[in-house]
Amino acid sequence: MSSRLISRRRFLKASGIAIGSMVLLRSGLYVLDAYQPVETLPDFRFGENTMSDKVLVTYASRTGSTAGVAEAIGKTLAESGIAVDVLPVSNVGDLKSYRAVVAGSAIQAGQWLPEAVEFVEVHRSELANMPFAAFLVCMTLAMKQGVYRDQAATWMGPVRAKVRPVSEGLFAGALDIQKIPSFGDRLKFRISVMAGVWSEGDHRDWGAIREWSKSLQPLLLK
Ligand SMILES: Cc1cc2nc3c(=O)[nH]c(=O)nc-3n(C[C@H](O)[C@H](O)[C@H](O)COP(=O)(O)O)c2cc1C
Repeated sequence: MSSRLISRRRFLKASGIAIGSMVLLRSGLYVLDAYQPVETLPDFRFGENTMSDKVLVTYASRTGSTAGVAEAIGKTLAESGIAVDVLPVSNVGDLKSYRAVVAGSAIQAGQWLPEAVEFVEVHRSELANMPFAAFLVCMTLAMKQGVYRDQAATWMGPVRAKVRPVSEGLFAGALDIQKIPSFGDRLKFRISVMAGVWSEGDHRDWGAIREWSKSLQPLLLK
């Protein structure tokens, strides 16, 4: 009786381990297979770039959606005849040739990406003496269940503490799980999507991005 009980227990334990491993392996392989690296972050140059009073739009992005927001901001600013460089923060040298700066970052774990924070820190004295605007891109603003604008606005706190922006843009981003490099993060996001917390896809509101960019023109050129 006791040996039957042990063997039954063993059988249940073994089947549990086997089923668990298959589930983990299946989802793990799916997530691993699904990773698609993001191309190098792009530079854009709009307008006649020989002018010495260009505007810099600089950004930090992991999966590319903030790069798209920065490009849209640059294009809109350039419509009024301003020359604009749009560069990842890692490609910015000095700020001497710029009359104004717009800097933005994707949000991860409720924070600007470290290289974007570092950009503001390194250039804080120059930024404090020129028009400086800031934006963030996150999924919280794409959530259907409520209004989280106040929460997202707090993520500008560390930037504000270094240099006060003349304006802040808060934008919904995009969730493309295949582009997230970390296995653990992909798994976490797949689970939150299944749980209905976030939905995959591009939630960027191009109208809102354009409207904010237009509102910047007089602030950056004063
Ligand atoms: C690891 C990771 C952590 C994230 N953390 C947050 C977060 O705390 N709050 C939020 O609203 N969005 C969060 N997001 C969503 C991103 O901010 C959003 O997908 C954004 O559009 C990504 O920008 P990017 O494509 O420029 O990297 C996170 C995304 C990743 C991959």
